[in-house]
Amino acid sequence: MFTIEKTYKKENVAEVLSIGIFEEPEKFSHLEDKLDEVLQEQLKELSSAGDISSKKRTVSIIPTLGLSGTKRLAFVGLGKKKKLTKEVLRESFGKLVQSIHRKKLTAVSILLDSFVTEAISVEKVASLFGEAFALALYNFPGYKQRANIPETKINAITVYTEGERDTVEQALKAGYIYGCATNSARTLVNTPPNLLTSTDLANYAKELAERYQFEVEILDKQEMIELGMGALLAVNQGSDEPPKMIVLKYQGKEEWTDVIGLVGKGITYDTGGYSLKPRVSMVGMKTDMGGAAAVFGAMEIVGELRPKQNVVAVIPSTDNMVNGKGFKPDDVITSLSGKTIEVTNTDAEGRLVLADGLTYAKQHGANYLVDVATLTGGVITALGSDKTGAMTNNEDFYGKVLEASKETDEMIWLLPITEKDKEKVRKSKIADLDNSPSREGHAIMGGAFIGEFAENTPWVHLDIAGTATVNGAHDLGPSGATGVMVRTLAKLIETFEPSK
Ligand code: BES
Ligand code: MN
Ligand code: ZN
Repeated sequence: MFTIEKTYKKENVAEVLSIGIFEEPEKFSHLEDKLDEVLQEQLKELSSAGDISSKKRTVSIIPTLGLSGTKRLAFVGLGKKKKLTKEVLRESFGKLVQSIHRKKLTAVSILLDSFVTEAISVEKVASLFGEAFALALYNFPGYKQRANIPETKINAITVYTEGERDTVEQALKAGYIYGCATNSARTLVNTPPNLLTSTDLANYAKELAERYQFEVEILDKQEMIELGMGALLAVNQGSDEPPKMIVLKYQGKEEWTDVIGLVGKGITYDTGGYSLKPRVSMVGMKTDMGGAAAVFGAMEIVGELRPKQNVVAVIPSTDNMVNGKGFKPDDVITSLSGKTIEVTNTDAEGRLVLADGLTYAKQHGANYLVDVATLTGGVITALGSDKTGAMTNNEDFYGKVLEASKETDEMIWLLPITEKDKEKVRKSKIADLDNSPSREGHAIMGGAFIGEFAENTPWVHLDIAGTATVNGAHDLGPSGATGVMVRTLAKLIETFEPSK
């Protein structure tokens, strides 16, 4: 897939050569020794005629008409050099590969060094390119009888760089792995709910375990009953599909210490249960296992890159359905932790399955917890569809998650959980907790409820209800599932250092 070469020579033959150009300094100044003189002259003309733009988020593809061994040049406009951010560069690479793909070209060359700035090293450029390449060309084939003929895809990439070869190659590959794992999560989320049950998720986990030598444990309903996972079981009561508690373990250290626990909401379909969703808001609830998908995606990266960390991934999974046996508002249930819960809304099911998920992750030795969940419509109202809502019981650990999210440009934003918020989830008259005490600030109520099960373990809750899907196509992929938080969770694990 990737070939790395040192210097681009005019004789090199390529379908398309990609070059980054800035508004300032002078567009082609950094290319003078790279392209031949005739071409240089032409470029200046094309540029003043507006055929080549250096404005950010533009791609200008021009044929070289036999003037070069390269058939086409793709100029990627990057704006002012000092202002270029890695986020814009990632998206620009996305735009670039999408433009090349649209022309049905299958081989790309790139002058990597033309994208380097003071703030963005050649290594970073390489990883952003690898990541964007995987992300931008993702598509979910779907199930139409007259499917599109299998598309031609870019399958050969030649990278020219004066940078250190091994470093660039590793960064390129790591970026590509990040992108591919995100795509795996996207596919899980895009898959219709009749084709992706809890059993299917469990089988998916087994495949991951086999591929990456993870330890795997799948609890079935009977085992859950014996262990007392009353919260997950309550949500499953109205379903004909058996629930699964899925555990994957990766041990990258000698001892099973400083264990990071990832807990993903694995509701394969959310009708709301007896607190039934209105017909319009039910559509799309196949994405309610987006948290699980993010955790699986992160584990895929862990399996590929094998960092020196310990990770336990826990996915409590079921659908939330209605039948004569379904749980109902007013029920009181006992969670795995022993805490009792008054159910006031069966549509607040995510926090119930996560309650048992968090407790189970702790039983498996998790010392730090991150849960990821499409938990509340409230977070969309509060933060929109481009920010993941975060809550925590530990500022220090949150700082680490925040740093990771800044690396991947998956924006997260902290919402508070106050003592009064905690009192609200504890205010049930007949049980320890109420699963849906208030319509006010209900993203926070969700977080506060889950926090009761994290207890004193450093914990961050990520509500991805808004960010798990996107309405329109963009530079890094089509509409539908985004695979949000795959990269942030993986980056957290890769860079994690326990606090002293
Ligand atoms: N799965 C939903 C949240 C959701 C909403 C995800 C929109 C994706 C898009 C969750 O289980 C839910 O139903 N939440 C309720 C919580 C309420 C009952 C406290 C909500 O957001 O209305
Ligand atoms: Mn719900
Ligand atoms: Zn839900």
